[in-house]
Amino acid sequence: MCRPTYYTIAYEINPWMSLKRQADHARALVQWNQLYRLLTRQLRVRVQILPPHPGVPDLVFTANAGLVSGRTVIRSNFRHPERQQEEPIIERYFKRAGFRVVRLSSRYDFEGEGDALWLGETLLFGFRFRSDEPAHEELARILKARVLPVELADRRFYHLDTCFCPLGASSALWFPSAFDRYGRKVIENLVADPISVSEADAKRFACNAIAVPASATSMGGTGGRAVVMQAGSSTRLRRQLARRGFRLYPVDLSEFLKAGGSAKCLVLRLS
Ligand code: ARG
Repeated sequence: MCRPTYYTIAYEINPWMSLKRQADHARALVQWNQLYRLLTRQLRVRVQILPPHPGVPDLVFTANAGLVSGRTVIRSNFRHPERQQEEPIIERYFKRAGFRVVRLSSRYDFEGEGDALWLGETLLFGFRFRSDEPAHEELARILKARVLPVELADRRFYHLDTCFCPLGASSALWFPSAFDRYGRKVIENLVADPISVSEADAKRFACNAIAVPASATSMGGTGGRAVVMQAGSSTRLRRQLARRGFRLYPVDLSEFLKAGGSAKCLVLRLS
């Protein structure tokens, strides 16, 4: 995670961002701290901090830094020049932390875990608005894994993690109309128990949730059922999660929604 010390709405690169709708900085700090405390104290997740940096306000959205696999990180090639400035900072951080940093040999855009999510042994890869489709071949080669590319169809849900959230190996939250017909077919075949969310929930970034993997917490197996999600989700969605045994931890991240991100965007999985 990266503290929002320099977080602000400084440009508009997705439909949620507007220079006319500035984030309240003090509030953003409080909200980020609440998320950090929930993860570290309540859920006992081990969190590493990427030092904040002036001039790159979206660095807080660490999900886009890259994709980590073991001690290797495939670092992002950002689409927008505004975020390309994060690349050297991210690269330096991971090298110092002892990771092997690789990048796609081509200059295809790739925005890390924002567009690449594991479901069991398969990597689902969302492309179009931020990542380029051909990157999936290189990802498969580097990761030695099956990578399934799906096209994103709704510009409000410009990253895969805004409309899809794996919950363990057999379930996932998703907003079906953010995908085209083929993408929906891929997901329906891949996920045994998909939970579709309403448009109202999707717009509240319900799919941008953190499913805390058991391996990330010292709580053991029980941690694997925790889902951290933007507050305000519908009763229907809350019931659907409860019925499957997930424990919901709502957090208010309103100031980050103004940049088009919520809980999941603010974290990058390291192991
Ligand atoms: N303002 C950021 C951007 O548009 C938000 C990134 C959200 N990250 C995510 N993984 N969905 O790039």
